[in-house]
Amino acid sequence: MRPVLLAALLALAALPAAADKPRLPPNPVYKAECGSCHVAYPPRLLPASSWQLLMQRLDRHFGTDASLDAGAREEIGRYLAANAGRREPPPGVEPRITETRWFAKEHREVPAALWKGTAVKSAANCGACHRRADDGDYSERTLRLPK
Ligand code: HEC
Ligand code: HEC
Repeated sequence: MRPVLLAALLALAALPAAADKPRLPPNPVYKAECGSCHVAYPPRLLPASSWQLLMQRLDRHFGTDASLDAGAREEIGRYLAANAGRREPPPGVEPRITETRWFAKEHREVPAALWKGTAVKSAANCGACHRRADDGDYSERTLRLPK
């Protein structure tokens, strides 16, 4: 096959993946308030119903208190609702991205020992492997598994 044609085909094949990338539209309030203890998770990775549950009980947030004043809570709630994904919600009143079927499928090649290793500690610690997770970048280019 001619190189030019091959390159065009490869570019086409890469298109759907690129469109599906959870790019984080910038929201400074969300990033400041929800990105201080962990990365500000991409809104697209949970459906609106899950974000709503989570925002309703910020005082009991995964064993910690993540309460916000009414103004910030409203702004973040609106932002999450507008940018939420359409995937099946994970179980429970403390919905986790890491408990979605999508997450398990996308990460099935990660060796079990790595999740619990000292470098990662928790699957919720996206930045241990996705080195630019802080900027909402989860592309393969910036992925590096810890040793
Ligand atoms: C005071 C610290 C703190 C703040 C502030 C905070 N969180 Fe969390 N969050 C946590 C902890 C601790 C966990 C559990 C992490 C783990 O299991 O390793 C967590 C987990 C999560 C998870 C589940 C991650 C997974 O396993 O998929 C989501 C989603 C989440 N937080 C969203 C938010 C949102 C939205 C905000 C802002 C409204 C927020 N967090 C603010 C401490 C915080
Ligand atoms: C232990 C390392 C590790 C951790 C921690 C981790 N990931 Fe991943 N992630 C991977 C690997 C490996 C892949 C698969 C890359 C591939 O096959 O293209 C992946 C793929 C992805 C993809 C798909 C990327 C693409 O372009 O197709 C997304 C989105 C993603 N991870 C988000 C997250 C989020 C959000 C978190 C935290 C809640 C997280 N990951 C935690 C290793 C990790």
